[in-house]
Amino acid sequence: MGIPKLGPVIAIDGPAGTGKSSATRRLAEILGFVHVDTGALYRAIALLCREKETTFPDLNEAELATQLSKEVHLEFKRIEGKNPANRIFANGRDVTDFIRTPEVSMAASRISAIPDVRSALLGLQRRLGCAGPSILEGRDIGTVIFPDADVKFFLTATADERAKRRLIELEAAGSDAPSFEEVRSQILARDHGDSTRKVAPLKKAADAVELDTSDFTLDEVVKFMEKAVKKALTHGKAKKSSTGAK
Ligand code: DC
Repeated sequence: MGIPKLGPVIAIDGPAGTGKSSATRRLAEILGFVHVDTGALYRAIALLCREKETTFPDLNEAELATQLSKEVHLEFKRIEGKNPANRIFANGRDVTDFIRTPEVSMAASRISAIPDVRSALLGLQRRLGCAGPSILEGRDIGTVIFPDADVKFFLTATADERAKRRLIELEAAGSDAPSFEEVRSQILARDHGDSTRKVAPLKKAADAVELDTSDFTLDEVVKFMEKAVKKALTHGKAKKSSTGAK
């Protein structure tokens, strides 16, 4: 039996640096939907692995990630205020500020290829999506987590454009900015890992709307998506349950 869906679910997938997170955040605010950043779940586990490496020297990264993914309590909390934000907590600790480094990005990509880690996070993602009107962003939302999402998007952009955007983000976050070439090759390495892994690889769902964001501003992307969502939700019927959701 599937989990009853308490509102429409929008799936937004695509590789890193396509503007997925910013567009999802804005669209969620406009529509009044909950924004679920599923990459943050993989990132939080990757961070914990790195922190625990020295405590469990006998376990390799994959073993540690598998164990942690089964034990960890992950939750999102919305912090209101001048700059409202969704923060991610791992075992009660706010880890939001530590999960965006290049090292954690690469580790998140590696551990996300482990089938046990993916299955440990599946139920949580479905519960979050079913709890009310929601927008989930990730790599496999439209293909695996919510194959019957009400609206699906697949965002792309050229590698150069994505590296440019990621570099701006890293600089804004105050991290020691790597070179453009370093960022670009890391993005390509992540793309390769994410799209060639055996389980739930990054790929466009057959019924997803594909949007190349390279030449569009964030505003244009959000407007396009808002229009498409409103049209789909007005003309189509929001689906009542999520196929396969347990
Ligand atoms: O979206 P992001 O860059 O924060 O994601 C970090 C990594 O997590 C990404 O390289 C692949 C993995 N990921 C995934 O495999 N499936 C998801 N639904 C979301 C992220």
